[in-house]
Amino acid sequence: MKLHHNTASPYVRKVMAVAIETGLDQRLETVNTAVSPINPHDDLNRSNPLGKIPALVLDDGTILYDSRVICEYLDTLHDGHRLFPFQGPARWTALRRQALADGILDAAVNLRYETFLRPEAQRWATWIDNQRLKALRACDQLETEAGSLSGLVDIGTLSIGCALGYLDFRFPDWGWREGRAALAGWHQVFNHRPSLAGTTPT
Ligand code: BEZ
Repeated sequence: MKLHHNTASPYVRKVMAVAIETGLDQRLETVNTAVSPINPHDDLNRSNPLGKIPALVLDDGTILYDSRVICEYLDTLHDGHRLFPFQGPARWTALRRQALADGILDAAVNLRYETFLRPEAQRWATWIDNQRLKALRACDQLETEAGSLSGLVDIGTLSIGCALGYLDFRFPDWGWREGRAALAGWHQVFNHRPSLAGTTPT
């Protein structure tokens, strides 16, 4: 399987974390794919018309995207601990947490593009503030759930680990740990898992 990959992408990181947790990482051939909204990548666009990473090309030519679909697909390829609970409250909680973490990422990655790519004169301070506030409100919600994250390894907690790691990578000045001691404590421990320690963004 060929994975369009970039070490800075938190969505790629999520896929790699799932691959490591499930013992599938050796089956992934990673292809470094540098993308941004203003630099189209022809090879990637042929795989994913949205021009986004990660995209996974299976051996029979089937192409899967986005990270949620790829992660759930990988979870069907092994016989170990399931990262997508099959049913019941555990499933909906894990999927909701993945959505919350991906929402943090969507806001933060949009902001990264806004502040890194867009010329300063064209930036919109109100939009920037509201993206940041959205991500930090989601962190507030996670703080209320931090007690129930401990000891849990599923798509929800892996997504949260990747989202908080991206804030550390691109927005350390936000200080997401301030006032969120329980979430910070959980992250400090969870971040030592090989699936996260081995995929720190660069
Ligand atoms: C980043 O450099 O922050 C980035 C790279 C790829 C996808 C998303 C974010």
